[in-house]
Amino acid sequence: MGIDNQIYDRLGDGWWDETNPLNTLNGSFTPGRFRYFRDVLRRLELDPAGLLAADIGCGGGFLAEEFAQLGCRVVGLDPSEVSVRTARGHAESSGLRVGYAVAMGERLPLADGSVDIAYCCDVLEHVSDLDRVIDETARVLKPGGLYLFDTINRTRLSKLLVIKLLQDWQPTRVVDSELHSWALFITPAELAECLCRHGLRLAEITGLGPRANKASLLSNFTRARRGRISFGELSRLMDVGQVDSTAVSYLGYALKTA
Ligand SMILES: C[S@@+](CC[C@H](N)C(=O)[O-])C[C@H]1O[C@@H](n2cnc3c(N)ncnc32)[C@H](O)[C@@H]1O
Repeated sequence: MGIDNQIYDRLGDGWWDETNPLNTLNGSFTPGRFRYFRDVLRRLELDPAGLLAADIGCGGGFLAEEFAQLGCRVVGLDPSEVSVRTARGHAESSGLRVGYAVAMGERLPLADGSVDIAYCCDVLEHVSDLDRVIDETARVLKPGGLYLFDTINRTRLSKLLVIKLLQDWQPTRVVDSELHSWALFITPAELAECLCRHGLRLAEITGLGPRANKASLLSNFTRARRGRISFGELSRLMDVGQVDSTAVSYLGYALKTA
């Protein structure tokens, strides 16, 4: 079976609901990834206030809201209409200004060289045409613009953990659906090559993953599956953040060459 991107329409009205499986991406994933992105901004001495940031594959807007709170002018783009509606509604009810539109990463409704920061989080392994998405991203970024990303590596370990444990194995899987396809996972070398082909210079890659111990992870996935803890709680208990190994997931940044 192929990857099921329709799930973001089926479940996309509940991104912010802790009992919704999509909320697993929030609890510790959002803060874990955002901590790293803020650190990149700090190291690059980039003041985010007023910068235009494009959240490509924004889902329910978890990271779009973080960047908006940092002072960026954020535009969140996603092919899932339901997700975009949810993201827009949540930002409005939180008093945050975020622009949202239904769009694919392969065809961004943004002018050439108009964006200061673009980011794709947990999205690149969902797209059917990675080259096209990176090409579009490079097109809309200003020279010197910053590209932030996280994605899943294609290794034996990611097959075991992300495909077998979280997707195939009934007692621990998050949803009864093909959230991911192992064939679409991207090795850091493949991503580096693809970025380079489109004028984005990879500056750094580092591991992203749960820092909780393995036994507790397994038991918490089972508890979430049985409804004993929410997916929001599951995510917090995973304590996702920067780790040494890039064998399962990684995050990093690239800069558009001038
Ligand atoms: C796992 S979710 C990540 C959502 C969000 N970036 C986050 O980290 O909270 C993957 C998202 O990618 C979106 N997506 C799927 N195919 C896409 C494409 N071709 N271009 C842009 N986004 C896409 C889905 O609709 C979904 O919202």
